[in-house]
Amino acid sequence: MAIIQTDQLTRRYGRQTAVDGLSIEIGERDIFGFLGPNGAGKTTTILMLLGLTEPTSGRARVLGFDPARDPLQIKQQVGYLPENVGFYDDLTGCENLRYMGRLNRLPEAQAPALIEEALSTVGLEGEGDKLVGAYSRGMRQRLGIAELLIKNPKLLILDEPTLGLDPDGTNRMLELIVSLRRERGMTVMLSSHQLQQVQRICTRVGIMIKGKLVALGSLDELSQGSPGDKARPNLEEIYMRYFKEA
Ligand SMILES: Nc1ncnc2c1ncn2[C@@H]1O[C@H](COP(=O)(O)OP(=O)(O)OP(=O)(O)O)[C@@H](O)[C@H]1O
Ligand SMILES: [Mg+2]
Repeated sequence: MAIIQTDQLTRRYGRQTAVDGLSIEIGERDIFGFLGPNGAGKTTTILMLLGLTEPTSGRARVLGFDPARDPLQIKQQVGYLPENVGFYDDLTGCENLRYMGRLNRLPEAQAPALIEEALSTVGLEGEGDKLVGAYSRGMRQRLGIAELLIKNPKLLILDEPTLGLDPDGTNRMLELIVSLRRERGMTVMLSSHQLQQVQRICTRVGIMIKGKLVALGSLDELSQGSPGDKARPNLEEIYMRYFKEA
């Protein structure tokens, strides 16, 4: 079964078409890398998948639900890390998680153990009692993932999860994403500008330029069909080729 499926999904803002007839399928346990230059339409697509923005035309199904009709189901069942993760700076990491847990109807009795486990999974053990206002960018990002883990969704949608992270933080985030797929069977869709990272962990990628999907497939599939290339192109070379053509 496809976890995410879109059919000619389109979103216009005035005369501008932010997402133009997007049709993709993301299967169970894929780590799908969603690539494209600034303004390509990645975040707009993600917002439509979450039911946070309505498509102008076309359809999407996420975990079997239509996000335009069933945004509440999607909200409950999908773990979403936005471009800018928002927390209460004047609460500690633990307090933020407890608050989010309550909003998500997490049973109070289970909350402390789940929160502790999530903090340790993301490498924030011992940091839960600090105010989030005193967290570094990487710590906030990891707290964002901890929040998702408590929800334990089948599907994670991460909008630039490694944005602003240092090399070590980036590696830890990538390893975490891979382990969530391996150990919890999660499906992941992530947007990124970091082609080498995407190349390392993604099972499939889609490249979007000016609202249009220009490439879709596994790295193996995308690196074929480059006659004359001595070595197989890497994702950066593939990306630049499409970018220049567009
Ligand atoms: N609320 C909005 N109102 C008007 N135009 C919008 C709105 N949101 C996005 N757009 C436009 O839609 C296009 C796609 O934007 P989007 O944020 O989806 O791109 P993106 O691929 O996520 O870019 P980035 O890599 O910079 O995050 C842009 O041209 C943007 O200006
Ligand atoms: Mg974006």
